[in-house]
Amino acid sequence: MRLQSKIFIFFTVLLLLIAFEWLFFSIFESRVLQEEMSSRGSVLVRTLAQLSAEPVLAFQITRLEKLLDSMLEEKDVVHARVYNSTYTVLAATDREQEGWTFSGRIAHSMQIRSDGELMVARAPITAMDQNLGMAEIVFSLGTLKGKVSRSRAIFLAIFIGELLLAVAFAVFLEIQVIRPLGKLAAEVQEIRAESLDASLAPAPFSAKEISRLRLSLDDMREKLRRAQADVVARTRLATMGQIAANITHEIRNPLEAISGAVEIISTEPELSADSRESVAILQEEIRNLEDYLNQYLEFARPMPVRPVSTSVNVLVEDCLLLLKPLVRKKKVKLHTALAAGLPRCRLDVNQLKRVIVNITLNSIEALSENGALRVSTASRADGVEISVRDDGEGIRDEDLPRVFDPYFTTKSGGSGLGLPLSKMIIEQHEGSIHIESSRAEGTVVKVTLPADPEGVRDG
Ligand SMILES: Nc1ncnc2c1ncn2[C@@H]1O[C@H](COP(=O)(O)OP(=O)(O)OP(=O)(O)O)[C@@H](O)[C@H]1O
Ligand SMILES: [Mg+2]
Repeated sequence: MRLQSKIFIFFTVLLLLIAFEWLFFSIFESRVLQEEMSSRGSVLVRTLAQLSAEPVLAFQITRLEKLLDSMLEEKDVVHARVYNSTYTVLAATDREQEGWTFSGRIAHSMQIRSDGELMVARAPITAMDQNLGMAEIVFSLGTLKGKVSRSRAIFLAIFIGELLLAVAFAVFLEIQVIRPLGKLAAEVQEIRAESLDASLAPAPFSAKEISRLRLSLDDMREKLRRAQADVVARTRLATMGQIAANITHEIRNPLEAISGAVEIISTEPELSADSRESVAILQEEIRNLEDYLNQYLEFARPMPVRPVSTSVNVLVEDCLLLLKPLVRKKKVKLHTALAAGLPRCRLDVNQLKRVIVNITLNSIEALSENGALRVSTASRADGVEISVRDDGEGIRDEDLPRVFDPYFTTKSGGSGLGLPLSKMIIEQHEGSIHIESSRAEGTVVKVTLPADPEGVRDG
């Protein structure tokens, strides 16, 4: 059963209970008031009967009339009468009624009757077991009815108030909880692999807890999207790696044979200058091909990480030393800012060198002459950050999400493996890599590596 239906049933039962409560109390209260009125009536009529006995015996009409008038002072009393033994009115508060004959049922004992508007209480007047007549008091039920209808009105007002409150609460539940929850459930149900990119739409007016739930679910969706993208990339990488490994294997041996043959030709003394130049080109291209194949191989069979405690600053300086000739050749203005006292990291030095060289090489390649290259290190909460910033040509917005895709390159001689390889190595070290870039300001690549858990720092 849907939550909405359950809540509807709950509120209906609640309202029925309230209505029943109202009905029960109004009936109950009217009964109690009626009983109270009857017992007051019987006390009063009995008193009248007792006090009337003597004046009836002595036929003292004036005394009886006074006694009856005094009854009128009692609350709700409208008439009072005293009858003689033949049930003729001896005295009445309404003097005109004196002499009338009684036509109702004679009360030989206490008698209370009510006819909606009036209540009549009758009691026999006796003296020494002799019947002398009957006392009668007529009460108005107006006050009692007023009381009952007043309390009914109060109950009704409370009932309407509770009803409004219940409706307001139901509306509040509907807007803040049920509707956003339903929307969220529908959206989560609709999530497909291909719709993982679209974030869950916020539901206005939803309760804070539901907004939090939506944010958590959206966060999960985002993580799922990333995990999915990661799986796709890894699968592609693995497939390509396998292909690359096969191709490398197939090409390597003939290439080695070609290399050996060219080596032999190069030692020929009678080679013309032109042929010697051609042989040199051949040798250079064979070397390039070998480098290229080696890079592929690294993808196919990633080298195991052999970490040792390393100073990141020393590592960066070593890489910059390697790149110095290129920096000089391109007249790049190199600024370094290496933070002192950095925590050491556990790194595979050779692999990390490849990463830093790859990234810095990309920056140098992106720079025009006299461009600026800034390499810095800093301590961060999650380890050590290496930042390589250039004010070069930058990366186009549409290319930025693809720079870690294997074989994505915008360079004519590029393999497009530099960044994916770097990412793979960094992730093997449980670090992270981020790129920010704009055509106007250039590119910054930030690599974060976890600090050595032993907490050793650079001296
Ligand atoms: N600092 C940078 N400035 C501008 N573009 C960059 C920068 N770094 C990376 N790129 C872009 O990212 C692409 C991929 O880089 P990656 O290092 O993976 O391959 P590549 O440099 O093209 O080839 P390889 O590194 O194999 O020589 C580059 O072709 C370039 O378009
Ligand atoms: Mg590169």
